Amino acid sequence: MEAQSDLIQAGYILAAALFILGLKGLSKPRTAVRGNAMGATGMLVAVVVTLTDNRILTFWQLGIGLLVGAVVGGLLATRVQMTGMPELVALFNGFGGLASVLVVGASFLEVREVGDDPTTTFTLAAGATALIGAVTFSGSVIAWAKLRETLGAYGFGAIGGVNGLLFATGIALIAATLGAPTSVALIVAIVAIGLVLGVSGVIPIGGADMPVVIALLNSLSGLAASATGFALGNSLLIIAGSLVGASGLILTQIMCVAMNRSLANVLFSEAPSSTGGADADEVYAGKVTSTTADEVALLLDTAERVAIVPGYGLAVAQAQHAVRDLTRALEANGAEVVFGIHPVAGRMPGHMNVLLAEAEIDYEKLIEMDAINPTFAQTDITIVIGANDVVNPVAREDPDSPIAGMPILDVDRSRTVVVIKRSLSPGFAGIPNPLFAADNTLMLFGDGKQAVVDINKALQEV
Ligand code: TAP
Repeated sequence: MEAQSDLIQAGYILAAALFILGLKGLSKPRTAVRGNAMGATGMLVAVVVTLTDNRILTFWQLGIGLLVGAVVGGLLATRVQMTGMPELVALFNGFGGLASVLVVGASFLEVREVGDDPTTTFTLAAGATALIGAVTFSGSVIAWAKLRETLGAYGFGAIGGVNGLLFATGIALIAATLGAPTSVALIVAIVAIGLVLGVSGVIPIGGADMPVVIALLNSLSGLAASATGFALGNSLLIIAGSLVGASGLILTQIMCVAMNRSLANVLFSEAPSSTGGADADEVYAGKVTSTTADEVALLLDTAERVAIVPGYGLAVAQAQHAVRDLTRALEANGAEVVFGIHPVAGRMPGHMNVLLAEAEIDYEKLIEMDAINPTFAQTDITIVIGANDVVNPVAREDPDSPIAGMPILDVDRSRTVVVIKRSLSPGFAGIPNPLFAADNTLMLFGDGKQAVVDINKALQEV
């Protein structure tokens, strides 16, 4: 029995080590695939060890749970469109929070039924799980709706203060559980406060600030799992949850820096209004120059340095393979081709990197914002494909704009800018973009993939 318990502990340590090494591997594109495999192996070890740890449910119960989860997860993952991935990831965060609440709830009822006096650690950890898990769940559902663009940002004036009050009440209720550790009413109240706080915390966050919230919810899902680990006395859950919590916090910080906002500012300031700044007619009327694929091919034929800036529309159009073909054609013609990557381009962290890696575009060509910005002035042509907010100069120039202060890719400083998109409609932040009306900008209207295929064809005929 003792040998089995040692083996289980050793399995947990092995799984934890694989998680940590996996995360380290994921920090660099060159080692990311290996890191992913290590993390997955760690999870397999963790599942096998948990299955043999017969303190937890029966084989049948675990088997049925695994089967249901695998079928639902498999269906969701295989049916989702590539463009729906960010929403799915937001939902997964939410389900993580909900799972923590349910696991700790079951454990709480079990302790109550047995009539044991729960330890202080259990009581506090169960309360923390109930609060954080519920916030994560309802907040993620709202984030999911916003990413689907079925829900906008709604500010309610003093909502920051209301949220502060809700949070303080949640903490006070957790403290109260120390005096009544088996009170169902208290735990239910904490979950209810958490659910309301998740909704009221995420609803006012809008436009370009969503990346920060997505990263924060990801972190909270880890913290909820970690708190569950303390309640259950499961060291692997504590470690895995802490890793997700800490990496999510680091990502939140990276996103805040990318948006030039503090976390407090994102969470507690007024919702940015998409009506701030100039209106579309004012910005575009009579100033937009459209072009054709043939014209763009002629320009590209003589270009020495070309920058390609992808955005969310690249994912919608699934244009990454056509872009790779264009890159190869331009390089064969003697041009230098680089990609400008904005940290919040697309709808999830690393979205553009993933798409371009899928098309086997060498990651050394992917240049981060700070490094590429000073080079736009020496760039002959910048092709913007399906990007909008991340190249919108109002962020730099209009202090009244909802994206004021957000660092952008300075594509407007290139000699010529070609913007490929279907219309003049705005991006996620919902505001017009004067780049489309600039003197050095040519608009190539159409679907991203078709437009790039047409340019490729025209290039061969030049
Ligand atoms: P957006 O500003 O959202 O603009 C995307 C553009 O793609 C749209 O203006 C759209 O214009 C165009 N488009 C859509 N389908 C297309 C197609 N098939 N072919 C060609 N173009 C197409 O994208 P962005 O510049 O990548 O900026 C990202 C925005 O999302 C930021 O505001 C960011 O804060 C926010 N956000 C980011 C994240 C993360 S973590 N990255 C998460 C949530 C929100 P048309 O309709 O005219 O074609």
